[in-house]
This record gives sequence, structure tokens and C-alpha cells, in this order.
Amino acid sequence: MRAEVELLDEQWMPFFARLEGPLRIISRTERFNLRVPQQVMETRARPLDVRAKAFAPLAEAVRAWDDARTPAQIDAILGQLSPQLAREVLLAFESVGGVGVEAWQRTMDKLGRPLWRRRWLKAYRQMYEMLMTQVALRGLHHYLLAWLPDGMRPEDMINTVEHVFDTGAARADLPALLPGMYTEYPDHLAPQESHLPLFALLTSYDFKGTWTISTLHRILGLDLDLALSIDVGVVSRTKAEMLADFTVNNRMTQLRSGSGPRDVRAERQLKAAYELQEVLDTESLHDVRMVLAVQGRDLEELNANVRKVETAGGATLKLMRPIGGQGPLTKFFGATPTGQIDALTRPRRQRSMAVTQYVPFGLRKPDRTDGLLWMLQGDTPIMFDPFADRRAAHAVVLGKTGSGKTFAINCWAMRLAAMGYQIVMYEPQGHSRRLIEASGEGRGGARYVLDMRQKVNVLDIVATRDEAGNAPSIATQIDHVVTQISVLMGTNVPTADGKTAFRPRIWESLEQGLLDLALQKLYHGLNLENLEPDHTPIVADLCDALSDIGSDEAKRLAYEIGLRLVQGSRGATFNQRTTIDWDFTHDLTAYDFSGVPEGTVRTFYYGQAFGALNRFVRSPIRDRRRTTVAIIDEFAYMAQVPSLAGFAAMAAKTWRTFNAHLWTLDQDAHTYLGTENGNPDPAMLSVFLNAPIKAILKQDAADAARLGNKIEGLHAAHVNQIKRQGRGELVLVWEGDGVGARHNEVFVGRVEPNDAELRAFAGT
Ligand SMILES: Nc1ncnc2c1ncn2[C@@H]1O[C@H](COP(=O)(O)OP(=O)(O)OP(=O)(O)O)[C@@H](O)[C@H]1O
Ligand SMILES: [Mg+2]
Repeated sequence: MRAEVELLDEQWMPFFARLEGPLRIISRTERFNLRVPQQVMETRARPLDVRAKAFAPLAEAVRAWDDARTPAQIDAILGQLSPQLAREVLLAFESVGGVGVEAWQRTMDKLGRPLWRRRWLKAYRQMYEMLMTQVALRGLHHYLLAWLPDGMRPEDMINTVEHVFDTGAARADLPALLPGMYTEYPDHLAPQESHLPLFALLTSYDFKGTWTISTLHRILGLDLDLALSIDVGVVSRTKAEMLADFTVNNRMTQLRSGSGPRDVRAERQLKAAYELQEVLDTESLHDVRMVLAVQGRDLEELNANVRKVETAGGATLKLMRPIGGQGPLTKFFGATPTGQIDALTRPRRQRSMAVTQYVPFGLRKPDRTDGLLWMLQGDTPIMFDPFADRRAAHAVVLGKTGSGKTFAINCWAMRLAAMGYQIVMYEPQGHSRRLIEASGEGRGGARYVLDMRQKVNVLDIVATRDEAGNAPSIATQIDHVVTQISVLMGTNVPTADGKTAFRPRIWESLEQGLLDLALQKLYHGLNLENLEPDHTPIVADLCDALSDIGSDEAKRLAYEIGLRLVQGSRGATFNQRTTIDWDFTHDLTAYDFSGVPEGTVRTFYYGQAFGALNRFVRSPIRDRRRTTVAIIDEFAYMAQVPSLAGFAAMAAKTWRTFNAHLWTLDQDAHTYLGTENGNPDPAMLSVFLNAPIKAILKQDAADAARLGNKIEGLHAAHVNQIKRQGRGELVLVWEGDGVGARHNEVFVGRVEPNDAELRAFAGT
């Protein structure tokens, strides 16, 4: 993170000071619309609509089942369906098994399952319609046109620009300013085809008062179609220096020889020349012109728009609309060298530091319309598809309590699920209820509420095949079980903020060895990959295996584990075959851990649940064409145990291959980044660094600063924003996918729900 002043002084100013050739910065607003995402919704809804309509008579026949009549009716209906749909019905019937009315009811349930998405696809189509009608959507594109000195390659310039301005840059064609043939009038250009807009060109004649880097944003942010060209010429250094020296010598002589009254004018000139000498030590001089192209549908609108631009320029940027020369002025939006443009302009001589204030790159108005609608930045919808090209699209979502994490995640999850992505959510507050209800519980979604009544076997298999397809390793499995036993046998301690943390039972080296030995015996000869819960050993078997080792230490350890996890009250839950159904067959699946006591037990559950998820993600029978997004709320539970955090870090590194993505949520950045006193857990840091998406809602001051230091592209203004944000407001950082994208894209705005989302997810 850099403060704005530092950035301008140390990065931007030297860029201009060292400039050897002239350059032009051209910024243009471009209209866009949301027809493409609208069509995406329509394309996805259409086959579902077709099915809903085609299956309706079948559903009706099954509902009014009559042994005598319905079977024949069904045959008749199937005969009228398209062969593809008829095949679908028969396949579904076969897969549910059985005969008669019950089998047909289950068949219809199965066929009806995906239809829940129709209503949401419609809601999202309408949302895009709304966004288009509310405001004219405009993107803003920045171009830098540079005349390179001999020997400098365009790639060098691109690298320099990326580095200096902290932005992505790529070689591009400069689009023509005028969209067709135009006729020149004294104060405007009129199109030869009537559907095109009129243009008026304005030029700068003075820059006054105090500029900041957002002065030009006032003009470029206007609700208008415009283009701005900032023409920066280089004044030869030697010439400028000679001029300054000459003035100093000349005026000195004049003042020294002067008798009579004080020569105030000469004194002022001398002072200015001294100042110039000083400036030239570090900076250069530039001749700067600005040209603006304003559009309007007719003369009246054009004149009104020109007035809006002039008003926005205010007292700092003085503009004029020259009479004559309108045609030649358009050349400032192309590659004609300034000296060859036959138009009246008034260059202002400026030092490099002043030129930095004109660079408008800080103002971004993206116009992508692919993928997910994340948020609105002002009126601009921020859309991008982080999953494109099979990228890793892991995310970290941060926000203090009440900042709107859950709400944002519910909106994003529903938008993805409607488009056909699979969502799995783990959360400890019961908030998933609304998401699952909204997906037609039992059809699109399933929700499992966990509490101590379900049984969980500590020895369940979590080890999986690796990416190379090697069989699950016993060592990984044993490590996990040893960790999980240490969690369950830990002790809870209340924290200052009223929560429960815990200290795991730390194993001594001897104990670790004994556990390893006993577990090796238990798992020996078992096929870890296909081991069913009914054949998996339980804690009591582990205690027996320890006792069988025979040493006093082994017996003592068996006794301790037996006391805590077999005979003790926890035995009823943990010394049992697992009854939790780790089921990931729905479009949306949520596991709610709110009924699981905080501290050791909840952490243990997170660990087991993560293991089950990881097994599902890597399962050879899972359809890898379907993208899975796994959302884990209150990720801090995993962070409490280094090896569980390590488990997640492994997922962040490897899940991409399986087309699965890990989205973790937590209240505080320090969960991932550590505090000043504590070093960050390397695994948590790795989860953070491996997430190309960071959605940052409100954070306290220390965490906001930490994020500023850790995330490339965040400036002091963003850090301030993060501290001050209200509910639903966020700073969204994405690694981007542009050609050679080496710079994060940063968006600032808010999560804006549509009516359906508001009804489904707002309030608690
Ligand atoms: N963008 C939004 N528009 C409308 N209401 C919102 C928005 N964001 C959040 N809310 C509402 O604000 C309240 C708090 O939001 P939410 O539960 O998402 O916070 P949270 O960050 O998940 O908090 P916690 O850390 O306690 O889980 C909820 O009642 C939610 O419905
Ligand atoms: Mg929440």
C-alpha cells in the first residue's frame, strides 16, 4: 500500500521527468449493455421451461394415479414427447428403481429437481433489465499513446507503465473517435448518417488553482458520452535549463546595475528563474494541452452537454469551444503528431509534478459483462468470471460481524447456483436455512443440521488419492486421526471476547509413536479408498490396539483415551460408527454446525467435515465438468489447529484440477495474516495468498492496514474505505485474467440485491 502523495512523488513524477518523447493519454467512455448476461439467463432457462411444460401432463397423471388407467396414459404421454425427453424420463424411472405409483412419484420428483432454478433465472434476467433501464451504462477505457525514443521497444513501455501506474496494460488499437462520416461546422461536427451523435470539441486554455488526481474524475464521471485527450509534450531539458540560467544572469546584472526605484518585475522574474532552476534538478517541463470531445443527439443536447462539461471543469480547468478547427481537433484522438495538427490550442507549460495530477487512470468504470454480477460500483455493474479457462477461483471474504458477509455470500451463491454451479456450504450460525429454502428445499437444496446426537467416528477415512492418482496414504490418514484426537481431548478456554477457544492435547514424542503404531495395525490390510463406515474401526478398537502393545506407557495412553472418548459422555458421539450423511448430491448443500458446541468439538467437526468434502471433490465418480464452490464460514475454527489449516491450504493448491474452489469467510484479516505479536500461520497465509479473489467488507483499523500492506493494488484510500464501510459495502480485489495480467483489479462498491434476493436473504 502506498499513500497517494508518495505514489505521485516516487512513481509517477519520475516517469514524466524522464520522458524522452511526447505522449497522449486518451480516456473514452463507452456505452455497454447487459444483453449478453440476459441471454445467458434465457439460454439456461429455456431447456428447463421446455421440461416443465413437457412433464406437466405426466406429473398430473401420476398425481391422479389410477391402477386401471394411468399406466396406459403414461405410455401415451411418453409417445408424444420428443425422443430425447422420453429417454430422460425412462432413465430417471430406471434409476429410482421399483414399479407402480411410488416409483413414478419418485421419478417425477427426480425430474422436477432442476426446475427450481427457473424462477431465479427469471429474477436475474429481470435484474439485468432493471440495471439497464435505470442508468446509461458506460465503461471507461484509458489509452496511452507514446512516441518512443529510438531503441525503446513497445514492450518496455508497457512494462514501465504497468509498474509506474500499478495497472495492467496491453497493446491495443486506438479506436477512431468519430463513428462515421462527419461534416464540419464552426462549433461542432454533424454526422452524415442521422442516427449518429453530433460532436463538439473543447480545448483547455488554462489550468488554475489546486489540482488533485481526482479533478478530472469530475468530468470523466459525468453521465455523458465523452472522450478526453491529454497531450503531453516534452520541453527539451537543455533548452529549459539554458533559459533559466540566462534569465538569472540577465536579471542579476539588471538589478545590480540598477539605480533609482526598485525593479519589482525583474525581482519577480529572478525569483521565478531560481525556482525553475531548482525544479529542473529533479523534474522536467512539459507543454500540456487537453482536448475534450462531447457528444449529443441534437444541437440542443450537445450544447447542454458542453455546458455540463464546462461546469465540471469549474475554476480549475478552463475550457473553450473554438470557432473553427473542430475537424482538426479530432486528430488529438489519433496518432498525428501535435506539431502537425492545424488547430488553435493553447499549451500550458507545466512541471512534471503538475502533470501527475492529470493522469486519470485512478478512475475505473469496467464494462465486462461475463460471469457473475458481484456488486455495483456507483451505477456500474461489476461482472467477471473468475472460473473462466479453468482458473483457480478461490476466494477469501472478510467482514466484521454485521458487515454483510453472509448476505453477500448468499446472493453470490444463488447467482452461481442458478447458472448451474454446485454450492456446498459449512456454517455455524444457522443462516444457511434461507439459502436452502430459496432453492426449494428437497429439490435444489438440502440442509443438514448437526448436533451431538449424530455419531461421528474419529477414525473415518479422510485420506484420498493424490493428483497423480496414487492410492491414499496411510501416513496422511494417521496424521489426521492423531490431530483430531488431540483436538477432542483438548481443553476449552474462554477468550476475552466471550468466545471459546481451546488448547489441544499436545502429544509427547513417545505418545505420538504409540498412536502411530496402533493405528497402523488397525488400518493394515484395509482398502482406505472404499472403506465403508460400517467396517471402519472405532476409538475403542484403537484403545485395544494400544493396550495390545503392552508397554506401561501404551496402557496409560489407552486408559486416558478410553476415559475421555469411550467411557466418558463423549463416547456416545465419537466412539461410534458415523451416522452423518455426507451428501453432496444436491445443487446446494448446507451443513449447519450451530448445534455443535464451540471449542474442541466444533473444531473437530470442521476437520471431519472438511475431510468429507475433500474426499467428495477428489472422488473419481464426481463429474469434474461441473464446478463446485465450497463455502466455509467462520474459517477461524480451522485456523485453530495448524494441521487443519494445512488441510485447507492443500485444497487451495490442488482443487483447481478437480474444478472445485474454496471460498472461506472470516471476520478478521488477522485470522489469515497473523497479528503483530504472532507470526501468521503459514498454512493460513497460504490459503490467503492462493485466493485470486478477496472480498473485503468492514475491517477494523489494524486489519485494514494489514490488508493494505499485503495486497498489491490497495492504496491508502482503499484502506480508509475498508475501515469506514457500511453494511454491504466492500472492496473487491481480483487477480484478473487480462493478457499478461500482473496487477490486481480493485473495485469499490456495494452488494446490491434484487427483490427476490432481498425477500429471501434480508433480516435475520
Ligand atoms: N447488501 C445488503 N442489503 C440489505 N441488507 C443487508 C445487506 N447486507 C447485509 N444485510 C443485512 O444486515 C444484517 C447483517 O448481515 P450479515 O448477517 O450478512 O452479516 P455478517 O457479516 O455475516 O455477520 P456475522 O459475522 O455476525 O455472521 C442482516 O440482517 C442482513 O440481512
Ligand atoms: Mg455471517
